[in-house]
Amino acid sequence: MTVEVIVLAAGKGTRMSSNRPKVLQDLAGRPLLEHVIITLGTLETSRIHVVYGHGAEQILALSENWPGINWVCQAQQLGTGHAVLQALPAVADSAQILVVYGDVPLIRSQTLEAVVQAAGREHLAVLTCELSDPTGYGRVLRDPEGCLTGIVEEKDASSAQQAISEINTGFLAAPASRLKEWLKVVDKNNSQGEYYLTDIVSHAVAAGEVVTCSASERDEIRGVNTQGELARLERVYQLRQAERFMNGGLSLRDPARFDVRGTLVFAADCSIDVNVVIDGSVTFGERVSIGANCFLRDCTLGDGVTVNANSVLEGATVGAGCSIGPFARLRPGTELAENARVGNFVELKAARLGHGSKANHLAYVGDADVGNNVNIGAGVITCNYDGSNKHETVIGDNAFIGSNSQLVAPVKIGAGATIGAGSTIRRNAEKGKLTLTRNKQVTLENWQRPKKKVR
Ligand code: UD1
Ligand code: CA
Repeated sequence: MTVEVIVLAAGKGTRMSSNRPKVLQDLAGRPLLEHVIITLGTLETSRIHVVYGHGAEQILALSENWPGINWVCQAQQLGTGHAVLQALPAVADSAQILVVYGDVPLIRSQTLEAVVQAAGREHLAVLTCELSDPTGYGRVLRDPEGCLTGIVEEKDASSAQQAISEINTGFLAAPASRLKEWLKVVDKNNSQGEYYLTDIVSHAVAAGEVVTCSASERDEIRGVNTQGELARLERVYQLRQAERFMNGGLSLRDPARFDVRGTLVFAADCSIDVNVVIDGSVTFGERVSIGANCFLRDCTLGDGVTVNANSVLEGATVGAGCSIGPFARLRPGTELAENARVGNFVELKAARLGHGSKANHLAYVGDADVGNNVNIGAGVITCNYDGSNKHETVIGDNAFIGSNSQLVAPVKIGAGATIGAGSTIRRNAEKGKLTLTRNKQVTLENWQRPKKKVR
């Protein structure tokens, strides 16, 4: 039997107080809905249908990344039962349907498989869970023998029913043909005036066709309704992910203060200090060490790279043995060859540093091609922007750029050239020679420091 999944994602998420539809809220750098879609990708399903409604434009923009999915619009959100109905015409009668929610991002594939298994060809399988605080969820009703008799929404529940701690997670599976029959008779005679998907349970019970299974991990069935819940699930996700990385050999000083919003690939013996954020796609070679409070986005770091505390690296390729920071900023297009050093308060942008080259303190190197074993002194600036256009600076191997010099691009510094400290270099500097611009130093013999006025 083939499995088709219906993802409910039309709701607004009023309590998020956001202009973004709820299922597009960000968890670990991805929309909630994408987490669900990615998990579904690990199951054997023949088709995924996503029912969307609120924020349709924004959802359709995301849908371009997922062309294999059937995107179904529910123009008016008349309830979960109504939402499923919108997708049903596209589902084969012979299929089995699995219903999941787009705002429950941490559901695991093994749990979904268990629900599908439990339903088989005949049954409605409902995933339930025991919660110490069941507030907000539909409650599971059972008879004295423990057989399921129905689900009651909190708003429709008596106080005795509200005391029940077993809740409906919303995940269910059933044969498509049955689901179509059961949904035909669902009405909206309830406190919210909605077509409840949960009402099919009583029909299935009457026909003796319902089973339940229970979720063992509570966090996987938790939905996002508020910013607080989103933040709690982010932490759960990050801790799960950190565990996985540590099992793979990554050394984390504190897994509770470590965030990956994207993908991290690492080789042996890498270590990460506290408060590090990894964004996008980041790759480490062996023995990479990242100091406290660093941010890395879309970077590749070679073997033995050290990034010291408080550094920000974005779109950088860093060769083996380089040392960066503390307080360094590598902007997109930075390429460091092996054993280069970039120290504190140095900013690089679209710049290549050859191997063994150094910019150890307080420098800006932008749109530059720097050779091997070059020394860039403290306070050196490439003046790459003339107010309208960007220009390139080229520095040959073994050049020495004295402190506090400005290299006004476009300009070339020859190999082995030395630039005297404090120079403003506007023309190319010859290789192997000392070039400097300097005003004569003078001393005024009769000068006196002004006296402090007495008031
Ligand atoms: C629903 C269940 C409740 C369960 C809870 C679990 C019903 C009637 N109630 O309640 O038993 O404990 O989920 O989280 O099913 N949606 C649509 N279209 C709609 C309405 C909702 O697509 O017209 C989507 C929402 O985007 C959301 C999901 O369905 O992803 C659940 O809707 P929500 O309004 O959050 O239902 P609950 O009241 O939480
Ligand atoms: Ca909900």
